[in-house]
Amino acid sequence: MSILITGGAGFIGSHTCIEMQNAGYDVVVIDNLDNSSSKSLERVEKITGKPVKFYKEDVRNKEALRKIFKENEIEAVIHFAGLKAVGESVREPIMYYDNNLINTISLVEVMTEFNVKKIVFSSSATVYGVATQMPLVEGMPLGAINPYGRTKLFIENILTDLFTADNDWCVALLRYFNPIGAHKSGLIGEDPKGIPNNLMPYISQVAVGKLEKLHVFGNDYKTVDGTGVRDYIHVVDLAVGHVKAIDWALKNKGCEAFNLGTGNGTSVLQLRDAFVKATGVEIPYVIDPRRPGDPDEVYANADKAKTVLGWTAKYGIDEMCEDTWRWQKNNPNGYED
Ligand code: NAD
Ligand code: UFG
Repeated sequence: MSILITGGAGFIGSHTCIEMQNAGYDVVVIDNLDNSSSKSLERVEKITGKPVKFYKEDVRNKEALRKIFKENEIEAVIHFAGLKAVGESVREPIMYYDNNLINTISLVEVMTEFNVKKIVFSSSATVYGVATQMPLVEGMPLGAINPYGRTKLFIENILTDLFTADNDWCVALLRYFNPIGAHKSGLIGEDPKGIPNNLMPYISQVAVGKLEKLHVFGNDYKTVDGTGVRDYIHVVDLAVGHVKAIDWALKNKGCEAFNLGTGNGTSVLQLRDAFVKATGVEIPYVIDPRRPGDPDEVYANADKAKTVLGWTAKYGIDEMCEDTWRWQKNNPNGYED
């Protein structure tokens, strides 16, 4: 029996392949390599010493999915495949709706054909929209403020409706906070195309000399030092969260959302300072205007994941910085090297 991992060559997917294999699961990956490289999977195999069966296909392609389900005994699916850049989703909304929604619909249709009814979905803290209260708890009202966020919210609704219509399903909606860090080996990590949108890859590219300085987006937020506060979570902790979610889904039926965060907030300047301390590399910065749409602070209450899945994050900010740096330093051009 195997677990199908869509988008398994990507940042979170490749780390999840490792943790799933370490937990004894066989994994099959489908990825169109739109935002990744198959080298990540070669490195996963190097790290675990176990094979990853890989299909370079688009999840929207139902014939390709059927072939995978025919050739492998799939018992559950972890669904990472999708586009994830907020700004790009505002410029290219149809591309986001087409990819994220259609790929999920194709996937659950083929899963239904093959009577596979266990799915773990990559949702995001973005589904809480503009929240008025922190920390975020799963039962709070949901909303979305950009096309990317709307795709996540729609997919949560689609999967919830699917369970309502057929109680044989088990759906875990995992709401990630801000994943950073990399595998301890330094062999796999985040490899953004072009100039990074997100804070940690930006900092690490300044550190390695590819970018000149960090632009801090605003220092007049209502936070500890005026800069934006987020709940950064080590990608390996996040990956282990998927193992726990699969363990749960294989034993249960239901549809539940889980926050995967640490519960701790860290500001932009605190993360920058932690990176400098962990690596000894100076990160020059300037204060720029706020980035439109950014909230003051976002952090999780992750009690439900602890109680129901038995999962808690174990890595702190220092390890997130050290591990990001090992990956970036060893692979200044990501998988291009
Ligand atoms: P990523 O881009 O590294 O991984 C996504 C993978 O999916 C890539 O390898 C890409 O090539 C593949 N893909 C995209 N569309 C596909 C399609 N139609 N068919 C097949 N493969 C396809 O991103 P990531 O950071 O690993 O994120 C994984 C998931 O987690 C995404 O759904 C993302 O929206 C979600 N998420 C990410 C974050 C984050 O900050 N990284 C936060 C919350 C949620
Ligand atoms: N920031 C900077 N400079 C940068 C990049 C970011 O100061 O170059 C700041 C932002 O203003 C914010 C913080 O660093 O205060 C974190 O920003 P990121 O872009 O790293 O992360 P976000 O919290 O904005 O976005 C993340 C995911 C999105 C998701 C969103 C809400 O990347 O996919 O969380 O859950 F939609």
